Amino acid sequence: MDIEFVRKHFAKRFNGKQGHVYFSPGRINLIGEHTDYNGGFVFPGAVTCGIMAEVCPNATDTIRAYAIDLEAYAQWSVNDIEGPKDTWGRYIYGMIREFQALGVKVGGFDVAFAGDVPLGAGMSSSAALEVCFGVALNDLFANNTITTWQIALAGQATEHKYVGVNCGIMDQFASAFGKKGQLMRLDCNSLEFEYYPFAPEAYKLVLINTCVKHELVGSPYNDRRCSCERVAKAIAAKHGERKINTLRDCTWQDLEEVKAEVSAEDMQRATFVLGEKDRVLSVCEALQKGDYEEVGKQMYLTHEGLSKDYEVSCEELDFLNKVAKDCGVTGSRMMGGGFGGCTINLVKDALYDNFVQTAIDKFKAQYGKEPQIIPVHIGDGGHKIC
Ligand code: GLA
Repeated sequence: MDIEFVRKHFAKRFNGKQGHVYFSPGRINLIGEHTDYNGGFVFPGAVTCGIMAEVCPNATDTIRAYAIDLEAYAQWSVNDIEGPKDTWGRYIYGMIREFQALGVKVGGFDVAFAGDVPLGAGMSSSAALEVCFGVALNDLFANNTITTWQIALAGQATEHKYVGVNCGIMDQFASAFGKKGQLMRLDCNSLEFEYYPFAPEAYKLVLINTCVKHELVGSPYNDRRCSCERVAKAIAAKHGERKINTLRDCTWQDLEEVKAEVSAEDMQRATFVLGEKDRVLSVCEALQKGDYEEVGKQMYLTHEGLSKDYEVSCEELDFLNKVAKDCGVTGSRMMGGGFGGCTINLVKDALYDNFVQTAIDKFKAQYGKEPQIIPVHIGDGGHKIC
């Protein structure tokens, strides 16, 4: 992200003023999809693209916000209980409300922000926006007393309460805690996590964006979550002796026992989640041994599950997954919430150029437009730039 670009727009919009600049990244996820809200494991890392905002308190009660890329402006009072209507404004508004709930006295401010994480690509541009504002509000109004976890959780609460996506914690966690060159394994039940250096020799990670915009606001994402919760509830009802909150606490045998009580669709979705929980652990083991062939195998299995059982893929993602397989790519799968966005591919250096070109050519021949190629660089989490 170009800091001068943001500075230029901020100064132009706000009469030559200068504020502080904050940045927070999007994320990738190696494996562990739709497991976060089921208390399972995820394996994300922050990327080097994200959202950058210049912010300056304005000594009033008014928030004056300019979304540079959208050329859109909104303003509202810090005490407004309705907030702005545009989704981008609601993320900012939600973070302010959550900070206020933490006891922070947020004053009015001027802000201009821009991003280079593709929107709707499944790379968590919205979490990047939330965490960027979390870092800024913390610095400007809370003396940096709010913890990184509180920022991530405020981002998740913003999605739930002010945007309507009942997401898990993976995206905000990754944007807040990311570290250069490191992936992270997060246990979404205990919120414990570990960094895993990720610099495989002779392999690269690359995203291929179908540019089919995924839209999680609305029912399909929340529907999946409801299916999982229904199955966990049915299992809990049979096992009063155990503490069962999410599918994380359930075994394959538990699932078998409620087969007759839950719908076939719910069963299929829960089957994916239990399988995915196992796959993340297999990948951790394989990474420790440097066994990237095994990592890749698990990625393909994840894709199959997301596509056939969890039903969150789309034709274009399945197409790219098949192209990857045909090109001998080590691992490939759709990434993120689904319904569009990117595939993530683990590719041997020697095959990289051929794979990328073949994916471009085949996708273009099939759909009449080129997919976007996004090489992955693992970067740092949200921070103040200056
Ligand atoms: C979206 C959500 C995350 C997670 C993924 C799927 O990115 O925001 O919480 O559920 O989908 O793994």
